[in-house]
Amino acid sequence: MDLGLKGKAALVTASSKGIGFGIAKVLASEGCNVAICSRGTDSINRAKDQIVRETGNGEVYAFSADLTAKEDVDRLAKNVVKKLGGVDILAYNTGPPKPGTFSDLNEADWDFGAKLLLMNAVWLAKRILPSMERKKWGRLVFITSTTLRQPIPNLVLSNTVRLSLAGLCKSLATEFGGKGITSNGIMQGHILTDRQREIAEDVSRRTRIPVDDAMKQALVDVPLGRYGTPEEVGYLVAFLASDKASYINGAMIPIDGGLIRATL
Ligand SMILES: NC(=O)c1ccc[n+]([C@@H]2O[C@H](COP(=O)([O-])OP(=O)(O)OC[C@H]3O[C@@H](n4cnc5c(N)ncnc54)[C@H](OP(=O)(O)O)[C@@H]3O)[C@@H](O)[C@H]2O)c1
Repeated sequence: MDLGLKGKAALVTASSKGIGFGIAKVLASEGCNVAICSRGTDSINRAKDQIVRETGNGEVYAFSADLTAKEDVDRLAKNVVKKLGGVDILAYNTGPPKPGTFSDLNEADWDFGAKLLLMNAVWLAKRILPSMERKKWGRLVFITSTTLRQPIPNLVLSNTVRLSLAGLCKSLATEFGGKGITSNGIMQGHILTDRQREIAEDVSRRTRIPVDDAMKQALVDVPLGRYGTPEEVGYLVAFLASDKASYINGAMIPIDGGLIRATL
């Protein structure tokens, strides 16, 4: 199926590795002009080189930005709009929040978590929507988590703050749907990235089971019996970003191998 994404300008945030990298690679292989970003200058440049090498698409641009710093997000949005002539597709991804129970987290953790998992989406949407409105076409895809449906005990920041991101996603779908802009979210389950290893290490510290056993234990409730890949998330983003998905708006779509048991 030709998704018709060739030449579309895409910004994929938090994308030097993991899920963001997988999304950027799939969009580049579909012919998008892709801007990627993360905090580390070397790592984001290496990621760019790898995407160019593996997809043969030379229209990939690397930016360094800390998504928890408003001035970085402003600069990122300005430079990407300048470089790509606007942004047609925003694949919003962010860094992982600090793990912890409510008792583990202090007020500074909550402040930081709110910037990392919510406020940067507000800052980005404010700066990027005008270029979508000018073109009367746009795609917002928010990468969230299954914690929206089912809290995870030691991920209280994710359980709490990401629900506000879902509210933002739905509100934008309502406000901008009539302007040719769709807004949808993705709730991924266990995707094999460094983050999963960090979570397994945290479980291992708390329960004293070996990290590899904690990695396997995470899959006990996944009917497909395996981790998902960052590219599998990327294929879903590519579909939502395409005109083939033009009647999907305001949806929050799970990609979790069947992890969440709720029927609706
Ligand atoms: N993997 C999963 O199974 C899973 C499941 C549910 C939800 N999630 C969520 O999905 C998101 C991506 O997870 P992942 O597994 O892909 O994580 P990952 O492999 O650790 O990659 C995180 C990416 O975010 C970047 N990053 C981190 N903090 C940043 C910041 N402040 N500003 C800009 N970039 C930043 C990192 O690059 P730099 O370090 O260079 O900045 C890296 O490119 C996270 O929010 C995670 O909590 C993941």
